[in-house]
Amino acid sequence: MTTPTLKIDKLKLGFKTWSGTLEVLHGISLHIQKGERVALVGESGSGKSVTARIVLGMLQQLKSARISGTVEFEGTNLETLKPASRHALRGTKMSMIFQDPTSSLNPVYTIFTLFKEVLERAEPGITNELARQKAITALADVAINEPERVLDSYAFQLSGGMNQRVMIAMALANNPALLLADEPGTALDVTVQAQTLKLMSALVEKHQTSVLFISHNLGVVREFADRVYVIYKGNIVEQGPTADLFANPQHPYTRALLSAVPRITGGGIPDLDDDPKQFLAPLVAHQGYSEKELLA
Ligand SMILES: Nc1ncnc2c1ncn2[C@@H]1O[C@H](COP(=O)(O)OP(=O)(O)O)[C@@H](O)[C@H]1O
Ligand SMILES: [Mg+2]
Repeated sequence: MTTPTLKIDKLKLGFKTWSGTLEVLHGISLHIQKGERVALVGESGSGKSVTARIVLGMLQQLKSARISGTVEFEGTNLETLKPASRHALRGTKMSMIFQDPTSSLNPVYTIFTLFKEVLERAEPGITNELARQKAITALADVAINEPERVLDSYAFQLSGGMNQRVMIAMALANNPALLLADEPGTALDVTVQAQTLKLMSALVEKHQTSVLFISHNLGVVREFADRVYVIYKGNIVEQGPTADLFANPQHPYTRALLSAVPRITGGGIPDLDDDPKQFLAPLVAHQGYSEKELLA
């Protein structure tokens, strides 16, 4: 078996607070093989974003965070790296796409300036000409028709969907081995979100990029992921190839997520940020689970 792009083993996280430690991750393990698109799905607050932040090395410096377990990137335990080497990975070999594209693009700079910053991480001293050329190619890859105009614009002058594509282009510009996509496009309307995910999907396939795709939305996960981990209150409660998981969910929480889909939407997508009791209701009513058991 080849070395996985990402291997998380027994990862625990707690936050120290004035009243004790808030345990957030209880020892989660997951791995992503090269070119694999893996989803981490669970309701709001279950521990998805903190997992991505630990992989990126962004929580380690937080004084209140207590972290144990291991994170290996292409076979290297990230804890063994010096801070500078670790920092150098970000934006180059691993990159991230955030939920809200417009607020994650600095409004003070043009898209070109932001793009150049990204390219400089992998290629310090890159010339304006080369950066522009590379940015134009990257924007064309995400089906942006007038890349020149977009490069000279500011994020606030572009639509949310356009900014999302710019983000995807930037995240993939240095050809990362791992893309962390944290609820990408959730801030966009559903049709635009679907289009951008299709684009992202085609690009990661072309470049054999490994993806950790974070979502609370099972409809989107089904479209995008090869394999799924279900996280519930800081524990992985179920995992498997996407088709198997949808066909034969084992854990009550996964079933709850699934049974909520047709009930709420009639074609659309449920919002699991809503009251969990509400989306657990069909399970309690029709499948004989107790609410207590599901929320334990
Ligand atoms: N910096 C922090 N300090 C204290 N608690 C935090 C911090 N960041 C996240 N949390 C808590 O950790 C839990 C998981 O958060 P998060 O990973 O953001 O959830 P989600 O699955 O919605 O992405 C939540 O209960 C959240 O309140
Ligand atoms: Mg989150």
